[in-house]
Amino acid sequence: MNNQRNLVVYRLYAPGYDWLVRPLFHTARQRAIKLLQLQPGERLLLSGAGTGLDLPLIPSGVRVTAVDLSYPMLQKGREKGNGRAAFALMDAQQLGLADASFDAIVLNLILSVVPDGAAAFAEAWRTLRPGGQAVIFDKFLPEDGRLSPLRQFVGKIIARLGTDPNRRLNDMLHATELVSVERNEASLFRGQYRIVLLRKPGREG
Ligand SMILES: C[S@@+](CC[C@H](N)C(=O)[O-])C[C@H]1O[C@@H](n2cnc3c(N)ncnc32)[C@H](O)[C@@H]1O
Repeated sequence: MNNQRNLVVYRLYAPGYDWLVRPLFHTARQRAIKLLQLQPGERLLLSGAGTGLDLPLIPSGVRVTAVDLSYPMLQKGREKGNGRAAFALMDAQQLGLADASFDAIVLNLILSVVPDGAAAFAEAWRTLRPGGQAVIFDKFLPEDGRLSPLRQFVGKIIARLGTDPNRRLNDMLHATELVSVERNEASLFRGQYRIVLLRKPGREG
């Protein structure tokens, strides 16, 4: 996967994305966002926000910044944002955002999509303040799962369609220091999808 391919693929997906993805993942999204226990006034980053399907689930008063690489996806998000969020075209692997500038971060269905999931995670983490929380909802290869030749082959085909099913969460988190996993819940497809809550150690508030 590379950014150029993602730009092409997600330009094609943008018109039908909500229709396809909203029903499948809505309940899992609700759960992920609920875990953050967002409070009015908090600053939230949606990294790889896509068409903004998370936006309606975010409590009012939360100050949202939504970034994505794809203009057509982000335009769909702007329509949902209703003036409640700031939108920026940005590479999640190289965020033009200050260190420790967010209280919470949502990384839904993005770490399996960007070319370098570890880099996207590290960048999001950099922008999270000490004591802040991040939630990830995505599919990962089980940590103890063997990557069979068949799964490897099928994974390569799926990756060409814009998402890689064969990444391990720990490979992405371990490149970054000071990551405390508070929860790692099984979600859809017999736990292939996970909801993971993380906290950055440091002062609260
Ligand atoms: C599967 S969609 C997920 C969108 C949204 N987070 C959601 O939960 O519906 C993946 C998104 O990642 C975006 N994307 C791909 N590569 C990216 C990159 N390098 N930086 C930021 N966003 C990227 C795509 O444009 C697309 O909107």
